[in-house]
Amino acid sequence: MTTNSNTKIKQEITSQKQPIIKLENLKKAFGDNVVLNGFNLELFEGENLVIMGKSGSGKSVMIKCLIGLTEVDSGNIEIMGKNLRSLNQNELNELRTEVGFLFQGSALYDSMTVRENLEFPLRRHKQKFGIVNDTTPLVEEALNSVGLLSAINLMPAELSGGMKRRIALARTLILKPKIILYDEPTSGLDPITSKEIIELMRNIQSQYNTSSLIITHDVDCARVVSERMILLIDGVNYAEGTFNELSNSKDEKIKAFFKH
Ligand SMILES: Nc1ncnc2c1ncn2[C@@H]1O[C@H](COP(=O)(O)OP(=O)(O)OP(=O)(O)O)[C@@H](O)[C@H]1O
Ligand SMILES: [Mg+2]
Repeated sequence: MTTNSNTKIKQEITSQKQPIIKLENLKKAFGDNVVLNGFNLELFEGENLVIMGKSGSGKSVMIKCLIGLTEVDSGNIEIMGKNLRSLNQNELNELRTEVGFLFQGSALYDSMTVRENLEFPLRRHKQKFGIVNDTTPLVEEALNSVGLLSAINLMPAELSGGMKRRIALARTLILKPKIILYDEPTSGLDPITSKEIIELMRNIQSQYNTSSLIITHDVDCARVVSERMILLIDGVNYAEGTFNELSNSKDEKIKAFFKH
């Protein structure tokens, strides 16, 4: 088979799939600090896409622009076929129930128990579930998915770093999102706990059939979870490909990511 027909087949396969998230030419600067300078991304249904970039390269800014927490200067953001910038506040809130966001760090509410932390998004997004009188089955289901039902009555201060990360993930799952955005899911965790979280992310993808965007600078995490990767360098999607393709690249900027 010639290279040309290979390319053609690849194009046909890609064109059949609809992106569930599409970012086009995103630009964002803070004063003179140009962070995103024409960033593009497509996340396809059921896919785990990893974004790598060095510290300060704009990964968190990109993900915050994506869900409308930070306003972009220009560019298009399309989520599940909807143009984010054309939505009103209600429509934006509705869309946000479909997009789970695991913040960098865990961001649990310290003064609430684990149960209350999980109930919080249910109360906030009542329209998706109607008024839930008994939240217990939903809370228990989400805690079971992360293997921590036993922690239901604990306070965040009583949890280890890995447990906090799991509870934060359960709080994201409780709204049954179609897309999960992970911002550094393994940072600050020891290698064994990191592996457990990575395993959990894979299980969640197969159990809930979610599509995920995973920001990480953990090469091991990228190797295990990514089906495809994008390197964010100099404000753009500098390189895209599978872990193997990128880690074998001869480009010095790309090679720098895979040196231990
Ligand atoms: N609210 C803000 N106001 C001004 N500058 C900001 C703001 N948020 C981020 N920045 C700047 O944008 C740049 C990118 O920050 P960002 O947090 O996206 O980096 P990152 O790639 O997520 O890094 P890390 O890997 O350390 O989390 C940095 O220079 C940062 O100082
Ligand atoms: Mg960040």
